[in-house]
Amino acid sequence: MADLIEIDTPRLHLRQWRDADDAPFAALNADAEVMRYFPAPLSRAESNGMAARCRDRIDALGWGFWACERKADGAFIGFVGLNVPAAALPFAPCVEIGWRLAREAWGQGFATEAARAALVVGFERLGLDEIVSFTALGNRRSRAVMERLGMHEDALVFEHPALQAGHPLRSHCLYRLPRADWEAATRGCV
Ligand SMILES: CC(C)(COP(=O)(O)OP(=O)(O)OC[C@H]1O[C@@H](n2cnc3c(N)ncnc32)[C@H](O)[C@@H]1OP(=O)(O)O)[C@@H](O)C(=O)NCCC(=O)NCCS
Repeated sequence: MADLIEIDTPRLHLRQWRDADDAPFAALNADAEVMRYFPAPLSRAESNGMAARCRDRIDALGWGFWACERKADGAFIGFVGLNVPAAALPFAPCVEIGWRLAREAWGQGFATEAARAALVVGFERLGLDEIVSFTALGNRRSRAVMERLGMHEDALVFEHPALQAGHPLRSHCLYRLPRADWEAATRGCV
C-alpha cells in the first residue's frame, strides 16, 4: 500500500473510492450521452468492476482516477485523475490524465479544475516528465478540456487497439503536456 494522495480544489475533493459511489457511478456509466465516445454504456457489473479497479490502483500507487466529490453538496460526480493505460498504445509507456463526469456536472468547469490539480500532483509530487491524454476524434468536449489545460495536439492519429478495425470510434487523437511546457505556463501565471 502506498501513501494515499487526495486533492482539494476550491469546489471539489478528489478522493479514494467508497462503496456508496457505486450507484451514482453506475448511473453515469449507463447514460448514453456520457458514454457517447466509448463503445457502449456500462452495465452495473461493468461499472462496479471499473470502480474496484480504480480503487485498487489508488491503494497500490497512492494516485489514480480519483472519485470526484462536489464540496457544495458532497455528491459523487464522476472521476478525474492520472492513470497508466492498460492498452498497448503506440506511445506507451505513458501516464494519461482522464475524466468522466455525470451530465448534470458538465458545463461548470469541474473537469478542468480537477485536472489542473491532478497535473500539479503528476508533475510536482510524482515527478513525471510528461502527461498525455487521448480520445476519439469527435469528442470535442474532452479535447476542449485538454486544450484548456495547455496540452498540445500531437500529429499522431492512432487506431485504439481495444476497438475492432472499422469501429467508428477507433481513430483517436493524442495530446501531450511535457513537464517543461507545464512549468513555463505555470510560471507565466504568477
Ligand atoms: C469531457 C467532460 C469531462 C468535459 O466536461 P465539461 O463540463 O465540458 O468541461 P469543464 O469541466 O472543463 O467545463 C467547461 C465548461 O464549463 C463552463 N464553466 C461554467 N462555469 C465555469 C467555471 N466556474 N469555471 C470554468 N468553466 C466554467 C465553461 O465555460 C465551459 O463551457 P462550454 O462547454 O460551454 O464551453 C464531460 O463532457 C464528460 O464527462 N464527458 C463524458 C466522458 C468522456 O468523454 N470523457 C473523456 C474520455 S477521453
